[in-house]
Amino acid sequence: MSKTLRLGVAGLGNVGVGLVKLVQGQETLRLTSKLEIVGVSARSRTRDRGIDISGYRWCDDAMSLALADDVDVYVELIGGSEGLAKQTVEAALEAGKHVVTANKALIAEHGCELAKIAEKKGVHLLFEAAVAGGVPVVRAVRDSLSGVRIDRISGILNGTCNYILTEMLDSGSPYEQVVKQAQRLGYAEADPWLDVSGMDAAHKIAILAAIAFGAAPDFSKVRVKGINDITDQDILLSSKLGYRIRLVAEAVQSGGKVRCFTAPTLFATDHPLALVTGPTNAVLIEGDPVGRLTLTGPGAGEGPTASAVMGDIARLNQGPATPPFGVNTSGLDDIFAEPTGEGMVSRWFIRANLADRSGTLAQLSDALAGARVSVDKLIQDSAGETGVAPIAIVTHACSRNTAESVIEKIATLPASVDAPQLIRIEA
Ligand code: HSE
Repeated sequence: MSKTLRLGVAGLGNVGVGLVKLVQGQETLRLTSKLEIVGVSARSRTRDRGIDISGYRWCDDAMSLALADDVDVYVELIGGSEGLAKQTVEAALEAGKHVVTANKALIAEHGCELAKIAEKKGVHLLFEAAVAGGVPVVRAVRDSLSGVRIDRISGILNGTCNYILTEMLDSGSPYEQVVKQAQRLGYAEADPWLDVSGMDAAHKIAILAAIAFGAAPDFSKVRVKGINDITDQDILLSSKLGYRIRLVAEAVQSGGKVRCFTAPTLFATDHPLALVTGPTNAVLIEGDPVGRLTLTGPGAGEGPTASAVMGDIARLNQGPATPPFGVNTSGLDDIFAEPTGEGMVSRWFIRANLADRSGTLAQLSDALAGARVSVDKLIQDSAGETGVAPIAIVTHACSRNTAESVIEKIATLPASVDAPQLIRIEA
């Protein structure tokens, strides 16, 4: 076994704790170096984390850990695209230390500038844990598939959202309760808004797109939509119509541009992504000459994500550093572009809450006919005592712009009581 790698671990949340456990049990792993944690840093020294950290130097200040002479590898598990995480990663790289991080926001928003420092210093900047938790997709796309012309990457990249969407349907529990459960189980970000708003999945798809398409990541061009306006009714009614809602992240290359977005999407119950449940992630990679690959597994949680960090640490002694995004930063193209709705033809799920009185369906029908949108399926639940009837429609194929114009029209109907919902149905 070659020389000992000395780690400085900043951040002792779920992933940090998982990593400490793996290092403490390293005899059972297939490593080529002995690992030694020399120092740790976190917000609270005294919090009970269920691990013994008394043998490690405690650093109140993560920067002192990032710069310590006895640290070979700075492991950044603080999170966030700015502030301490960014400052310490920059400083560690400038000081010639390898950096391993699980921080997708940092890599998606500042990956290129950090990769430049890593290249200049000849050190590793590795971030397998930033995308899809325990699913080894970063290295697969960057290294194993470097000989494949990738056309599209899509999938479920946020375990918390997938857990919420499937658990709400299966247990009938309300949204807030399921979000709390996801936090307790260690799936959610410290601020679960990052999960449900789609930001977390958007960061991850931006990273994969940069690697897959040799593009300089430009997070400002990613269109982000999450699950925070999905209601219990959407989940229930789409299920009655034979679909499952999933938060999809997608990156496509066409016409020399790379377009990335996240959006709730409906899948027929037998579609592979409809079958992905709980905090599981699934990534579909389509390219030539491999066709379609599917990688699936636990996308969140202490153990799976820590195992990805450990995989990066294990890589450090296996040869010189390679470019973090697969090619040198000077070779990354500035081709991220904003997705457009034009030309996107699809079937659509529309849900509206309409006053339960005579003439309501006629108003709805006028709105659809006015936009020349044809209905494939329509169901209405009883208004019961509420006086408001939930109605769900599956349209025949039409453009996004047309579907959006129908939604605008429905929102202004006298019978409409709140904002209608529009979700794309995957072919
Ligand atoms: N909060 C993330 C998720 C896990 O739910 O997928 C870390 O990326």
